[in-house]
Amino acid sequence: MNIRSVKLACFSPTGTSRAINQAIGEGLEIDNVEVIDATQLNSRQTALQASNDELLVLAMPVYSGRLPVVAEKWLQTISLKDTPTVCVVVYGNREYDDALLELQDIVKQRGGLPVACAAFIGEHSFSADNTPIAVARPDANDLQQAKAFGHKVQGIMESFLPEVGIEVPVPGNRPYKELGKGAPVDFIDVSEVCTRCGICASVCPVEAINKKTPSTYDMANCIRCCACIKACPEQARSMKEGVMMDVAKRLNSMCQERKEPVTFFPA
Ligand SMILES: Cc1cc2nc3c(=O)[nH]c(=O)nc-3n(C[C@H](O)[C@H](O)[C@H](O)COP(=O)(O)O)c2cc1C
Repeated sequence: MNIRSVKLACFSPTGTSRAINQAIGEGLEIDNVEVIDATQLNSRQTALQASNDELLVLAMPVYSGRLPVVAEKWLQTISLKDTPTVCVVVYGNREYDDALLELQDIVKQRGGLPVACAAFIGEHSFSADNTPIAVARPDANDLQQAKAFGHKVQGIMESFLPEVGIEVPVPGNRPYKELGKGAPVDFIDVSEVCTRCGICASVCPVEAINKKTPSTYDMANCIRCCACIKACPEQARSMKEGVMMDVAKRLNSMCQERKEPVTFFPA
């Protein structure tokens, strides 16, 4: 099958899904590449469209074993026309549960044809100096594997026959894991070293932080992605002691054993 161009799309508050997507793109060795970053609220106002002579690569983080709700809402707006699609989830070394299955299901509902799937590992959003979890992943080895995956997909595309109803066998269950209610939690501490530079507000994917008053945030809207904590150039933002910190501590003790990327292809 002749692929005219590649669309690399992601939602990636802390950048690990973006890094994996980029490495897959390098492995594909197709010149015409468009990057679609749906992390920021305004970028999710535009619905992604792709046709049958384009290859789409979608990389999404795993939140509570599922896709992040805001990313899922955006995915439900995309419009594909028998578009060969690669589904990728990136998770923080705990588990990806039903997220990859959910992503593949949405792709099929939106008119895409899954050609390959993968799960990669990224530093956990809740990882910090006192609760390290999968620190600095994806590392060079992960990125090499992502590139090799892209290369393999390119090989598959040469003999790919568009076939409606195609399914790549991936782990996961339907109905998917139920999501908790996610009651608002005040978990971010802002110290006096904050300079009000506004970087935290500019990286927030749901615009829950006001640039002028970055020490407060809209807790009900916050998706707990921790992008603001990781992006702060002064390290003024951190996780408070409390329920979220308890989760981070638990993950830190339970998820130390290194997991490796996995890839899936049509049966
Ligand atoms: C609210 C929330 C829930 C998460 N749930 C999971 C999970 O169920 N399993 C897991 O291994 N990692 C989980 N993570 C970690 C992210 O999947 C991981 O850090 C990922 O690399 C973040 O992607 P990004 O850098 O593209 O934002 C969660 C992160 C957040 C913010």
